[in-house]
Amino acid sequence: MLVSAKEMLTKAKAGHYAVGQFNINNLEWTKSILLTAQELKSPVILGVSEGAGKYMTGYKTVAAMVKAMVEELNITVPVALHLDHGSYEGAKACIEAGFSSIMFDGSHYPIDENIAKTKELVAICEEKGLSIEAEVGSIGGEEDGVIGKGECADPDECKAVADLGVTMLAAGIGNIHGKYPDNWEGLSFETLDAIQAKTGDMPLVLHGGTGIPEDMIKKAISLGVAKINVNTECQLSFADATRKYIEAGKDLEGKGFDPRKLLAPGAEAIKATVKEKMELFGSVGKA
Ligand code: 13P
Repeated sequence: MLVSAKEMLTKAKAGHYAVGQFNINNLEWTKSILLTAQELKSPVILGVSEGAGKYMTGYKTVAAMVKAMVEELNITVPVALHLDHGSYEGAKACIEAGFSSIMFDGSHYPIDENIAKTKELVAICEEKGLSIEAEVGSIGGEEDGVIGKGECADPDECKAVADLGVTMLAAGIGNIHGKYPDNWEGLSFETLDAIQAKTGDMPLVLHGGTGIPEDMIKKAISLGVAKINVNTECQLSFADATRKYIEAGKDLEGKGFDPRKLLAPGAEAIKATVKEKMELFGSVGKA
């Protein structure tokens, strides 16, 4: 069974650790993340971008696959299936398809429109028992072809959106998706501190979890971050392991070309990345 992310994030915020959101792209990815969460007794959030949803043929396929996998792998730790950076229409489609959590990213709208649309989706999610993440201040880098600047969110706007009754709030604090450039200035803890002061118990979300130094991750958690999103790092470790397998000519040995063998090193590499992140975020044993 899938659960809303509310309870796991409320506990994380109170317990000063963070739950990882790991984005999924296919069956192997999903299986690796679920098995690792179970092994480490950690709650977990599976993120699905709109592009990944389309790639996997649609949100209904994703919801059906994840629900069946949780059951057939006997996963007992809390698992939320969450739309990542959803549009207004995408959020509605995922609610319909059986996701247990959504993100509505209205950060590119003027704040009044972001508030109006978020408010409408909060009411629907409340009625259905789903969790909802909102975003204020765009997160930089490229995701599904959308490039954001990585601005810092305005703490008063964060409070206005938090007060709508969202479950969790993503606020830009200089973080970006993908690899960080060499001249990256780091996270703005001053902004994070000001946002947490205005939003109190609201679990804050840190996007762009790939490549943030460990000390910054720990400091962000100490300042109220209770959910951290990781995507690129799993993609890189999957690609690297697959390349090594092929470069070593293993696909040409025996039945090494069988996709179940070819994709196995990548699937193992994702497990290792997820384990490392869960240990760093402090969610191990918290399920
Ligand atoms: P990374 O790709 O930088 O890990 O960011 C993931 C993310 O924030 C998904 O929303």
